[in-house]
Amino acid sequence: REAKLQLVHRHIRAFPDFPRKGILFRDICPILKDPAALTAVTDLFEEHVRQNHPQVDLIVGLDARGFLFGPLLAQRLSIGFVLVRKKGKLPGPTLSVLYDLEYGKAEAEIQDDSVAPGQKILLIDDLLATGGTLYAACELMKKQQAEILGCMVIIELKELNGIEKLKPHNLFSLIQY
Ligand code: PRP
Ligand code: HPA
Repeated sequence: REAKLQLVHRHIRAFPDFPRKGILFRDICPILKDPAALTAVTDLFEEHVRQNHPQVDLIVGLDARGFLFGPLLAQRLSIGFVLVRKKGKLPGPTLSVLYDLEYGKAEAEIQDDSVAPGQKILLIDDLLATGGTLYAACELMKKQQAEILGCMVIIELKELNGIEKLKPHNLFSLIQY
């Protein structure tokens, strides 16, 4: 496990002042470019879910970078994957929630038949900053009467204290800055 975490760590880059001055942007693209690092991420998430949430029914991934890791994990677990998208991208009846970002505003949306009442779900994204995005996704899951088992990210930006915003839901992160 320690070797896998180190491999993931080596495949995260930091860019100062992106997308705005004062933001140190953590970039996960090198993970995707390296099959061993991507396998390590998926292994680490899979171990966490098998140990802590074996009853999970669905993985719910956030637009856009939750889409890169969520389906790989869902396939490992032989369960389905559901998309939470930025507004205006999903066809048919939808539910939406407005939220604040570290650098702007956005609206998250799901198809209203994506999760059945009582289904046990885990949310996944690449990174937790203020927690606004995952919080909005949790609100959508509550509207669907889903049972939220927890949230998972590769990177947690500790100083923004997003973990507080997500409470009472638990957060699992692979790497913390
Ligand atoms: C980033 C990141 C998370 C979110 C975290 O995505 O991938 O989804 O911000 O920030 P928060 O915890 O403060 O809500 P972004 O909204 O930049 O959009 P993208 O995935 O479309 O690039
Ligand atoms: N990296 C990637 N996405 C982000 C960040 C970051 O540092 N902060 C908010 N969203």
